Amino acid sequence: MSSSSTGNRVLNSVIAQRTMSAEDAAALVQPGWQIGMSGFTGSGYPKAVPTALARRVADAHLRGEKFKVNVFTGASTGPELDGVLAMAGAMQMRMPYQSDPTTRKLINSGEMQYIDMHLSHVAQLVEYGFMGKLDLAIIEVTAVLEDGRVIPSTSLGNNQTWIGCAEKVILEVNSTQPMELEGLHDIYYGLGLPPFRDPIPLTAANQRIGESYLKIPLEKVVAVVHTDVPDRASAFKAPDENSKKIAGNIIEFLIWEVKKGRLPPSLLPLQSGVGNIANAVLYGLGEGPFNDLTAYTEVIQDGLFDLIRSGKMLSASATSFSLSPDGVEQIMPHIGEYRDRIVLRSQEISNHPGIIRRLGVIAMNGMIEADIYGNVNSTHIMGSSVMNGIGGSGDFARNGFMSIFMAPSTAQKGTISTLVPMVSHVDHTEHDVSVVVTEQGLADLRGLSPTQRAKLIIENCAHPDYRAGLLDYYNRSYKLANGKHTPHLLTESLSWHSRYLRTGNMLRQEE
Ligand code: COA
Repeated sequence: MSSSSTGNRVLNSVIAQRTMSAEDAAALVQPGWQIGMSGFTGSGYPKAVPTALARRVADAHLRGEKFKVNVFTGASTGPELDGVLAMAGAMQMRMPYQSDPTTRKLINSGEMQYIDMHLSHVAQLVEYGFMGKLDLAIIEVTAVLEDGRVIPSTSLGNNQTWIGCAEKVILEVNSTQPMELEGLHDIYYGLGLPPFRDPIPLTAANQRIGESYLKIPLEKVVAVVHTDVPDRASAFKAPDENSKKIAGNIIEFLIWEVKKGRLPPSLLPLQSGVGNIANAVLYGLGEGPFNDLTAYTEVIQDGLFDLIRSGKMLSASATSFSLSPDGVEQIMPHIGEYRDRIVLRSQEISNHPGIIRRLGVIAMNGMIEADIYGNVNSTHIMGSSVMNGIGGSGDFARNGFMSIFMAPSTAQKGTISTLVPMVSHVDHTEHDVSVVVTEQGLADLRGLSPTQRAKLIIENCAHPDYRAGLLDYYNRSYKLANGKHTPHLLTESLSWHSRYLRTGNMLRQEE
């Protein structure tokens, strides 16, 4: 391709003519619009237009005018999108995932609606028309070729769908994204709508089945804005003792599974959630005995990239990068060298239930809490306040070869047990959870009844400070509840949470 050599990132003359300032582009937005924006895990999200839109909304509010929009993305974005729009009170509704502190605050204070949903569901929900009209797509891209095809940015997320469904498109061309990204993406245009859906011809994690470029109908493009603001890049904490122990427990388990012949020596494609513990597990795999690993996941973070760089991992498929500042500096300028080992796909494909099942993905995700029967809460603190969202964890947990959920056994300086009698919110039911792991140990729940699971989770995973309390709850439930299949004392099952809300500690005073 030629644009890298010219330094000009918009080679198509029709699109180039629509170049304007972020302020002029934001002026095209009308109150009440539904806007699909690019962005996934702090990567590839538009920065200039949302920031200009936030200023416009704030000015409108100062004049006493009503101005809010609904914002859809791939997943979480960054301060120049969620942050500024939330601070300006610009969002009426947000979906499908966020991790922004101000947005979270508005959602939990009831000032903003939030639809937290499986990431694989988003594109089809909009395509089926369930969300109404999509007025605008604002998409960050790396460059536009002469024939109008577009080199995507550091994430694909739902961009393909937003461009297909929206009436108008604004492109943000970000000059900090390396031209080396060209050829890394794989965009499949063959999905169709029911009842005309054919099998997706993807049978290996690293296979390419589509095109490297986004197709955009030229007539939809109403503005092109140039930016040079880099992606949000969050530093990872060095793995603490608990994360290292969790990683060690998982690796020991995987070694055992290989020994028993239930997993091949190079495992199966890995999916790893985001965050520090997930990153620690990936670093642990780097030191483990496995070779020729593959990943079929959502996000390529530093730990995953290091596995590729060291040769331990052959290839990784995802929908976005989520690198630390060091990762961005070291990796991004040379990302083209990894074109044969890294594929970025639309999230409808990276999280597709059928493909996850076909490939036999090993799903590893963080959790907020699990209960003694193996139900998992990934999203809510004390039953009511949303943290981030379910993200892709449900797509992978339900459909993977096995589904591992991990967390330290306590939170907030030991005042909270992450193993509880009954979860205060359910994201993944007992039917979707194969393994629960904490720094204390691991419970393999496969093939066990609820009462067998309860004993194992309490014994292997609970923190010693809470183990006796959980066992006491279980034993009394077994004795007193009127059903012995999944025994609960309903007047007590959420008492640990209410005790924490009353006293700031889940532990009983006398314990
Ligand atoms: N009750 C109350 N607070 C809890 C808690 C619990 N049971 N468990 C954790 N927390 C708090 C922690 O104390 C911490 O609070 P702080 O920010 O005040 O320090 C915060 O939640 C984050 O906990 P941490 O242990 O650092 O977890 P994490 O960064 O690994 O994130 C999830 C854990 C569950 C929030 C995160 O994995 C998530 O959002 N998951 C859902 C989406 C997902 O799984 N995506 C995967 C596909 S990409």
